[in-house]
Formats: sequence, C-alpha cells, structure tokens
Amino acid sequence: MAPGASHFPHYLDVDRQREFADQCRALLDGAVPAYVPTVRGGGKMHVRMLCLGRHWNGLTYRYEPTRTDFDNLAPPPLPESFRRLAADIAAAAGMSLDADICIVNYYDADGRMGLHQDKDEGAESIAAGVPVVSVSLGDTARFLFGGLRRRDPVEAIPLESGDAFVFGGPARLRYHGVSRIMPGTSPSNLRLSGRFNLTFRQF
Ligand code: SIN
Ligand code: MN
Repeated sequence: MAPGASHFPHYLDVDRQREFADQCRALLDGAVPAYVPTVRGGGKMHVRMLCLGRHWNGLTYRYEPTRTDFDNLAPPPLPESFRRLAADIAAAAGMSLDADICIVNYYDADGRMGLHQDKDEGAESIAAGVPVVSVSLGDTARFLFGGLRRRDPVEAIPLESGDAFVFGGPARLRYHGVSRIMPGTSPSNLRLSGRFNLTFRQF
C-alpha cells in the first residue's frame, strides 16, 4: 500500500473469524464488560469498548492498570491466541509485534470513529515504529486512512470480515478512523450483526 501500511484481505478464514468473534462476544459481555467511553470534552464514543491487557482511559488518553474512568476493574488479560494472531500478522507485513494490549471495539449499525492518531502507547514503541495490527470481524467498515497531519488527504478502504490491516514504521502515526458501517454485510455463519475491530499494540 504505502510504506509501513499493509492490508491483508480475508486474512482469517470463516472458521477462524467465527472463533475470534465468539471470544470477543464472550469477553464484551463477561465479568469485566465493554462500555461506551466518555471522552475528553464530555462526548460519548460511538462504539462499545473493552481493553485487554491494559486499559486506555478515554478521559485522560493514558493507559492504566484499572478502569478509573468507569468501574475501577482491571481489564481482562490478553489471551495468548490473540497475541499470537497479532504477531503472525505483523510478521506477514515484515514487522515484529509483541502485543501487550488489545482494544476490542464493537460497532453497531450507527457505529463510527473520528479521525485520530494512535499515540498513547510508549514513546519508545512509537519511535521504533512498532506497528498497530487491526483485525476486523462482521460487518464491513468504511475505514479512513489519512496522512501524518489531520488535514492530509484521506483514502477510504473497505475493511471486510477477516481482513487484517497493519500500520507501523513510517505509517505508525497516520490518522485513521471509521466513517460508517455497512449493515447486513457480515458473513451469515458468524451470527454477528455489527462489527468487532481488534487493535493490537505494544506499549
Ligand atoms: C481504531 O482506530 O481504534 C479502530 C479502527 C477500526 O475500527 O478499524
Ligand atoms: Mn486508532
């Protein structure tokens, strides 16, 4: 695609999509449930979010060991199968990632996410260009991928169920977001209406 950015359409076959979607569903409705974060400025996000491994606080834009912006619970650990998936995808892009964080977002038909940079991980990780690895499950998203400045032109990339997307190296701080979800496009055997997106990061 562009230096540091790679798109792997249908990286996961339908059986593996189903396996990860089932795990996401169980986690998001589990003992430490997903919630709709309130962000700086007081607005609500348009996703349900669950962080694994470390919690990203939407009010402070910092990672922390417990969810001080919500219920003070510790986030669930990152499952080994998730960590391995992220490492394999990064390797396919010619990069290396030892993820210790996964943010799982659930988008319903009205879900979206404004343009932003992922820049709250450790300074060393970002400076080294350690990639963010994204995995999409369920309904197709219109993913926006911009440049290093907010005003740079933005490319719209449909991310379908099973797709992986990697941005690291010189692309690590590129702006990105989700402008909309295409309802009803999820593979029927996933039994998922809406979309899960997993982003793996190394603090
Ligand atoms: C994110 O930037 O955290 C999520 C991107 C996506 O949902 O594809
Ligand atoms: Mn992001």
